[in-house]
Amino acid sequence: MPDPIAIRPVTVADLPALRALWDRCGLHPSASDTDQRLAALIEFAPGLFLAAECGAEVVGSVMASWDGRRGWINRLAVDPSARGARLGDRLMAEAEDRLRAIGCDKVNLLIEPDNAGVERFYRRLGYDRDELIFMEKWI
Ligand SMILES: CC(C)(COP(=O)(O)OP(=O)(O)OC[C@H]1O[C@@H](n2cnc3c(N)ncnc32)[C@H](O)[C@@H]1OP(=O)(O)O)[C@@H](O)C(=O)NCCC(=O)NCCS
Repeated sequence: MPDPIAIRPVTVADLPALRALWDRCGLHPSASDTDQRLAALIEFAPGLFLAAECGAEVVGSVMASWDGRRGWINRLAVDPSARGARLGDRLMAEAEDRLRAIGCDKVNLLIEPDNAGVERFYRRLGYDRDELIFMEKWI
């Protein structure tokens, strides 16, 4: 029988496996994704940045975060070998439960234009599109 998949908070020791997973999933690192910054995020929002583990292997991730007003979802990823078994749904449900538990009532996420097809995945989970103009600045 295959190992059951457990979802748990990530630790700094998971970072190499997470990087490899994101690479396999086509999620490219941002300049903010240094080990130091990711370690700081794990400390800043304990219990929100999650990994899915099958045996000793990291097969999924979701980087939920909370800015004190809104929840955010980043880096949702399921290893290609583990797709199609609702692990993405499980990761999202766990992230939402944990955000709700700390007082979050709205969750936001962004989709890269070259990954627009994934909108269907999120719509099934109740996410709607909001026609905002997204602006940003590196400081
Ligand atoms: C998106 C992702 C996490 C989904 O993981 P998963 O565990 O395979 O998804 P699930 O098994 O929970 O899928 C549930 C449903 O969503 C659909 N779905 C899954 N991935 C999808 C995608 N990329 N685009 C559109 N629909 C998708 C499935 O077809 C399934 O639909 P159904 O209910 O009609 O059968 C996975 O495809 C992935 O890691 N993609 C690459 C990284 C990525 O794009 N992340 C999101 C960044 S915004």
